[in-house]
Formats: sequence, structure tokens, C-alpha cells
Amino acid sequence: MSDAYPIEPVNVELVDTKYRTIKTAIPHRDSVATLQRLRDIEPQCMEGQPPIVWKRAEGASVWDAWGNRWIDFSSGVLITNAGHGRAEMVDAIVSQAKGQLLTSYCFPHESRRELVEALQGVAPRRDDKVMLLSTGSEATEMCVKLSREHGRAVGKSPNVFVSFDNSFHGRTLGAQLAGGVPDLKKWIGYDDTHFVQVPFPDGGVRCGPEDNEFSAFERSLCEAGVSAHQVCGVMTETYQGGNSSFAPASYIQQLRQWCNDHKALLIMDEVQAGFGRTGTFWGFEHYGIQPDLIACGKGISGSLPISAVIGRSHIMDLFPPGSMTSTHSGNPVCCAAALASLKLILAENLTERASRIGSVLQDSSQRIQRRFSDVILASHGKGLVTSLHCVKPGTNEADAKLAWRVIGRGVQCGVMLFGPVGFAGASVKISPPLMIEQEALEEGMQVVEQAFAHELSPV
Ligand SMILES: Cc1ncc(COP(=O)(O)O)c(C=O)c1O
Repeated sequence: MSDAYPIEPVNVELVDTKYRTIKTAIPHRDSVATLQRLRDIEPQCMEGQPPIVWKRAEGASVWDAWGNRWIDFSSGVLITNAGHGRAEMVDAIVSQAKGQLLTSYCFPHESRRELVEALQGVAPRRDDKVMLLSTGSEATEMCVKLSREHGRAVGKSPNVFVSFDNSFHGRTLGAQLAGGVPDLKKWIGYDDTHFVQVPFPDGGVRCGPEDNEFSAFERSLCEAGVSAHQVCGVMTETYQGGNSSFAPASYIQQLRQWCNDHKALLIMDEVQAGFGRTGTFWGFEHYGIQPDLIACGKGISGSLPISAVIGRSHIMDLFPPGSMTSTHSGNPVCCAAALASLKLILAENLTERASRIGSVLQDSSQRIQRRFSDVILASHGKGLVTSLHCVKPGTNEADAKLAWRVIGRGVQCGVMLFGPVGFAGASVKISPPLMIEQEALEEGMQVVEQAFAHELSPV
């Protein structure tokens, strides 16, 4: 599904609750010029979101410039774990900026020390090292690079990097070679046999029932002509972002052992799952394992662009001084933002909160799935992330159009959702800030349910 949402204002029912206000046509007619201007001067790939011109966001609310207010079920795109625009974060950003250090390349500064120390404090092992980067793609690419270098160091040839079908690790070349969505890789124009994908064990929604067993991992490698001693690294999203699907814990535990046995690194892409989102600080805690490398992004700062790789020190140290840098690594203002966000997540026990009110989200998502089970194949997720995967009635054929319409309707009714994601772009994904009030969460889920009802039997 790659349609852009129309930008013509639609007259909708007015809404006025504690958490939502819709008092104009949506989008507001005065925002159309901005929307159109962006459509004229940006490439069309930027047109995937519902057409709301954001003015302000605070906590779990988003406003336009005309007083319409949405319950935020997007967190941007799983960025604002501690909530939008938190005063502590704004103060930290302003104070760093006013302190007159806006950038420093890789020259050291105190904010970088503080953030790296704080991240090391939440790392799985006390002697893990932390490298700051700018985007999630950069972090996953660094994991690929470290794995291949480690593979070279232990004498692997060829050096094969394994990931999973339907996975997403970013949009740059290496991240997409490791990605598991064939349509996203067509532009590359060749198959790189050093990157291999195996089925992701998603409980049988988009994999075969037999793929949920770890034996499928070994069998798939064998079918791809790859032997275990050639594998330098295995990377998986902790949960597969699109459909919010977790693997069985026993599968990941066996994978951990397999990686140990074959000198392959295990990498968890926590760009979405980290920083409390799933009800544990790291998503991989659900599996009871420790990865060798962790790719972080999004919720690491709750705001400004910064990412990180955290991992075993001997692996992180594979490249010599000056040889694995990034211009904006550890930007002082981004570091200040990330440190403030992390402090809020820890001080306010937002991870525990994500677990507690996450059960409200999961229950209501599953109830919606049961009510519309003809067209919602699955509700997957943990903590404060869930996806409703839409299909054509009574089949397992993805229905991107339905997801697209439900999201559009939800937004018109005061719930902010990003455009469809997941397998064939057919999932409605719900990921509010972790500090969302339970009442707002419940109200927003009622709107999602009504949006399904409306789109399945429009009046
Ligand atoms: C699991 C995962 N990894 C990596 C990325 C890439 O992050 P970025 O868009 O910051 O490059 C994303 C982005 O959606 C993601 O969800």
C-alpha cells in the first residue's frame, strides 16, 4: 500500500473529551497550503503519513495550530518513550545549547561522558562499551561491520551475515541487505550471497508452523548452502517491528547457544524495543538471553537524533583509533536530550509502567482482534506496543487498504497513528508514550475499535 493520504479537508464529527479535541475539518483547511507545498518540493516517499501538520506535542498529546488535539498512539515512531516535550528534556537541551557547545565531532565533552556512562549502567555487562552514532540504520550497519570484522578475525570465509525474513533494520545499503523485505531491496539490483535471511518464528502468522522451531533455523541455512562455521553474525529485531511479533523464548535461547558454539555474534536490534517499550528495559530480557551487540535508536533520546551500539568490549574495540567514527557521534545537545530522557525513564519507573498498563493495551487489542477476527489475523505485542494485522475477510491475504482506512479514520477522530506498517503494509500499529494515562489509553483504544467498525460498515 503506497497511496498518500488525501489532503483535502474532511468534515468529521466534532469531538471534545478530556484527551481529544476535534473542532474543525481534518486536516484544517489552513494547513493544506503547507501540506501541498511539501508535496511539491519533497519526494513522494515522504507522503506516507496522515496529513496533520503538527504544531506542538506534550506528554501523550499532539496538537495542530488550530486547537485540534490527538491522543498520541505513535510516539512519533516509537521515539518519545518518556513522553513528548518533557520539561526536563527541554531544559537539558536548552541548557546544553546555551552552554555554547553545539557540536564537537569526536572531541570529548562532558555530556558524552555522562551519557556513555549512563548507557553502560543499563548495559547487560559491566564492562560493555558504548559507541554513540546518529541513526538506527547507522547502529545496525555498525553491528554488521563489527560482525564481519570479528568473523575475519576468527578466520571465517566466506563471512555470512544472517537475519530474518520480514525484518527491518533501516534504509541504508547494509541495513537493507540485512533486511528481510524483498520489495525494499529491489533497488539494490543484486543478491549479496553474504547476507542470508531465514524465516522469523512469528507464531505462524507469516511463517510456516514448522518455522517456529529452532531446527528451522539450521535447516534454512542448509537450504541456502551456508554452513554454521561461515556465519559471522545473526541479527534480529527483538520483536519484528511491523507486526510486533516476538519469537518463542526457547528459539532465541537455542540461537544464543548456537552462536556461542559457532563463534557467531548475536545482535539484538533494539532500535524499537529498547528503553522500556515492551515492559522490560531491553526487549531481549523477555528471552532470558544476553546479546553480544545491541543496536539502539529511537527511544534512546525520546527526541533528538542519536543512536548507539552497546556491546562486548573486545568486539567494540576491533577497529583502531580514528577508524570507526561518525561526524555527529555524541553531539552535545543530543547527548543532553538522551541523558534527560533516560533519567526520566529510570526515575519514573516507566518500564514497569509499560508492563502494567501495557496489559490493558494488549487485552483491548486482543479483544478488538477477536471482535473483527474475520479481517484481523493477529494482535501481537508486549508492553506498550501492539499491531493489528489486517487481512481480506476470512483469508490470510494482507489487506493494506483496510489498515490505511482504519488509521485515517482514527486520526480524523482524534487518535494519532502513523501510516500502516508490517507485512505488506497491512498492520495498524499502536505505540503510545510510556507515560500515557490509562484513561487516555482506554479511550484511544475505543476509537481504534470504532474505526474498524466504521470502515467495515461505513454509513
Ligand atoms: C528495528 C529497527 N531498526 C532500525 C531502524 C532504522 O532506524 P533509523 O530510521 O533511525 O535509521 C528502524 C526504524 O524504523 C527500526 O524500526
